[in-house]
Amino acid sequence: MKIAIVGTGYVGLVTGTCLADLGNEVICIDKDRGKIALLNAGRIPIYEPGLPEMVIKNTCSRNLTFTDDLPTAIADAEVIFIAVGTPQGKSGGADLSGVWAVGRQIAENLKGPATIVIKSTVPVGTNAELSRQMAEITDVPFDVASNPEFLKEGAAIEDFYKPDRVVVGARRPEVVATLLRVYKPILGADRPFLAMLPESAEMTKYVANCLLATKISFINEMANLCTGYGAHIDDVRRGIGYDRRIGFQFLAPGAGYGGSCFPKDVRALIHMAKMVGLPCQMMEVVDSVNESQKDVLPRLILNHFGGSVRGLRIAVWGLAFKPETDDVRESPALVLIEELLQAGALVRVSDPQALEHVRAIYGDRLDYCEDPYSALEMADAVAIVTDWKQYQSPDFAVMSDLMNHRVIFDGRNCLDEAKVLSSGFQYQGIGRLTPGSSRPHTRANVLELVTPDPLSESFDLAWDISDVEVLAPVEWLPLQKA
Ligand SMILES: NC(=O)c1ccc[n+]([C@@H]2O[C@H](COP(=O)([O-])OP(=O)(O)OC[C@H]3O[C@@H](n4cnc5c(N)ncnc54)[C@H](O)[C@@H]3O)[C@@H](O)[C@H]2O)c1
Repeated sequence: MKIAIVGTGYVGLVTGTCLADLGNEVICIDKDRGKIALLNAGRIPIYEPGLPEMVIKNTCSRNLTFTDDLPTAIADAEVIFIAVGTPQGKSGGADLSGVWAVGRQIAENLKGPATIVIKSTVPVGTNAELSRQMAEITDVPFDVASNPEFLKEGAAIEDFYKPDRVVVGARRPEVVATLLRVYKPILGADRPFLAMLPESAEMTKYVANCLLATKISFINEMANLCTGYGAHIDDVRRGIGYDRRIGFQFLAPGAGYGGSCFPKDVRALIHMAKMVGLPCQMMEVVDSVNESQKDVLPRLILNHFGGSVRGLRIAVWGLAFKPETDDVRESPALVLIEELLQAGALVRVSDPQALEHVRAIYGDRLDYCEDPYSALEMADAVAIVTDWKQYQSPDFAVMSDLMNHRVIFDGRNCLDEAKVLSSGFQYQGIGRLTPGSSRPHTRANVLELVTPDPLSESFDLAWDISDVEVLAPVEWLPLQKA
């Protein structure tokens, strides 16, 4: 099938490459000429594991091409995806100017019947409005379908091939059939194709992201309460997670959610509700809890140093909003860096992929270190803000040698707390240890010993429980005064 994809960002490039890999003839279009030039030179403008190899393979076989010339590119495409950005606008709602501009351009250049597919995340009613706007421009028959994207940066290729579901919104069965042909090779018994009205498809994307954001804000708030009362969030997570109605997914506390989707999609839904005079109280709270959560890590650091970090060297490990991406949009690391700089700290940062994006924002206000350990030289503390794999089991002896003070703030609860403490470091996670409290059997919790622990990587540990000393809960963690 001949497919055109307009917008060659995280979504457009991954989707286009994977569709080409399935045997389609795909042309990716972007108005950013620099990006197209890079891609035509065999270089990938984003970091996404596995993507460079696939792009090269499919450009070599001529299944995948790149251009900034939309009129020519869409001329004989049967399906045209729109995957341009829909960032937050001034009102809080999604800025759809990119979608309208592309729709207009497509309509002006359409030569034969085509299915236009909105892949960008767009408010309910966009499909209908785009159809209306395009029909004013062209007499060539076309359909507009909605096909929201659910891929996760960092696992985008896997998500394309093994989606939990494919959602398609259309008004005619023929359009559903066209998209079924596109997706057939990746569908299966546990990967359903869900056809619905465009309005439902558009709403589905927001409801999904808002529920995920809600889970994160919920567990963050609970983690903060744990800190206040001397409870341990890891134990609480186990205590709730084994309840099959609750589970473990997306209930990990941290420094707040970021990225190009959750923050703007939550606010877009709030805006959508306002537009029709309906309440959206939960999402307003989810958003404000998340904004406050981004302050938790800076506050922990300031409190630890008695309210002032002026002149102190603080290392920051992790800048991307999550691991396996170079995306720093709305990353909690940026809030931490800003607050540390404002408070007079000297900030040295490291990230496996996102260093250049942060350099573009902060220039020479920060020290940039390719090697995470060199960021620790003479540091008074290190804050982990992204749980990249390489930060999760660091060499504590090397850290000790390099740092001025052995202090770790773990904004993703990604370190093994017992190991950190036994290595002589002071440690604060999110909802984990109350400063000064002792928790003698951090790892040797009875549940951990008798059941594979879904929260840790120690599934394969063969525990011998015969010599386990079962401690009364009160001895595991003395209650701390808030
Ligand atoms: N990034 C994600 O993880 C993700 C996941 C699911 C859904 N989405 C949604 O997918 C959409 C795209 O997100 P993204 O992260 O890929 O964005 P992005 O910013 O990485 O890429 C968008 C691309 O569109 C191009 N573009 C903008 N206007 C254009 C125009 N008029 N003509 C041609 N190209 C144009 C830009 O130059 C850019 O390269 C958004 O609506 C987003 O909410 C993103």
